Amino acid sequence: MIQLVIGSQWGDEGKGKIVDIMAAKADLVVRFHGGNNAGHTVVINGQKFPFHLIPSGILQKKPTVVIADGTVIDPDVLLEEMDIFEKMGINLKKKLLISPRCHLIMPYHKELDQAYENARGKNKLGTTKRGIGPVYADKVSYNGIRIYELLDWPLFVEKFKFQAEIKNKILVAFGVIPIKVETYLSIFKKLAERVRPMVRDTFAIFQKAIKQKKYILLEGAHGVMLDNSFGLYPYVTASNVIEGGVNIGSGVPSKRIDEVWGIVKAYTSRVGGGPLPTELFDKIAEDIRERGYEYGTTTGRPRRVGWLDLPAVKFACLLSSINRIAITKIDILSGLSQIKVCVDYKLDGKKIEFSQCGYLELEKLTPIYKTFSGWKKDISKIKSFKKLPINCQKYVRFIEKYLDVKVKIVSVSPERKASIFV
Ligand code: IMP
Repeated sequence: MIQLVIGSQWGDEGKGKIVDIMAAKADLVVRFHGGNNAGHTVVINGQKFPFHLIPSGILQKKPTVVIADGTVIDPDVLLEEMDIFEKMGINLKKKLLISPRCHLIMPYHKELDQAYENARGKNKLGTTKRGIGPVYADKVSYNGIRIYELLDWPLFVEKFKFQAEIKNKILVAFGVIPIKVETYLSIFKKLAERVRPMVRDTFAIFQKAIKQKKYILLEGAHGVMLDNSFGLYPYVTASNVIEGGVNIGSGVPSKRIDEVWGIVKAYTSRVGGGPLPTELFDKIAEDIRERGYEYGTTTGRPRRVGWLDLPAVKFACLLSSINRIAITKIDILSGLSQIKVCVDYKLDGKKIEFSQCGYLELEKLTPIYKTFSGWKKDISKIKSFKKLPINCQKYVRFIEKYLDVKVKIVSVSPERKASIFV
């Protein structure tokens, strides 16, 4: 079986926890795009495990985890995460595989990301400054350096020097101190030696697994609204987040995917700039942010929050053939007397579809809400759907009907155990 888990909103939907639960039975857990701009947190017996690059399935016994072709790797972050997991007693040589096609985030990518953001001034996009845009730009313009080159040291040094020379000219034009290649060589050398035993032909591994009907779990990062083509460009990330990104980023044919799980947070959140039609600015926003701990796993930035935006989520479902939904963080809404859900958009008095909107329309339109009565009870220990307060059940059923996709999991607390299978 092949399962894909993707975020249906602006990222931070709680994918890490859902992937972690599913990973218990998986043979392979695969990341296929993005880099350490993503962050996922898994909570086990009260202990938080935040990580950025290595797939969430690493904490489960059974699966082998794969950093596949479309993922971009920051050497510092990979080495740091490898250290953490090795200290926990996980044998990464057996547990982790890396594709040679993965591009490396070089020091100049991070500097360029920062320099572009500074130059944009009030129009800054709010990137995570992890070098993501510049590394993918180099990839598509044939200027990237991959794990493949890293394993051939003289070739790597030659390419690194050549690229650094060009990038340094751009950095100087931005008024930024150029990078010194020598400072970074030792870290890349260390990375090369550490990853060498884990680098494999992941294409062949996936093909064999498909033939043997193994269970492959594909772990999406970010959210569909941040997709480079279908998100609200330029307020997007540099990779393809949608279902088609699987084929591009791992070589696993999208046609082979059996289940596409859309993760829907019970409200909306977003880090970074760009319009957010259902954004809240009042006391309710503060409450949701504090209770939901809506601060970036990667940057620590406070996340913007708002009511659930169903036209946007519906777009994500159609775009990525989502056929199963997991609703997360619904417990954060407990205690609110009323809960609103956006069901339509209106612009100049006329209905407008999400797909017709760019950022200019989204800034101006009026969200049309349906209001639900809330529930007071703490639901974080509830184990069955029928035991949830009736208003909570109505909320879930409404989402299901609107999206026309079955809700299969309702997550009621960050704990691994706290998931209701519907
Ligand atoms: P970048 O991916 O760092 O280039 O940032 C581009 C945009 O995507 C910014 O608005 C980021 O805040 C947002 N972004 C990237 N990754 C994530 C994520 O995993 N969760 C939420 N927002 C993200």
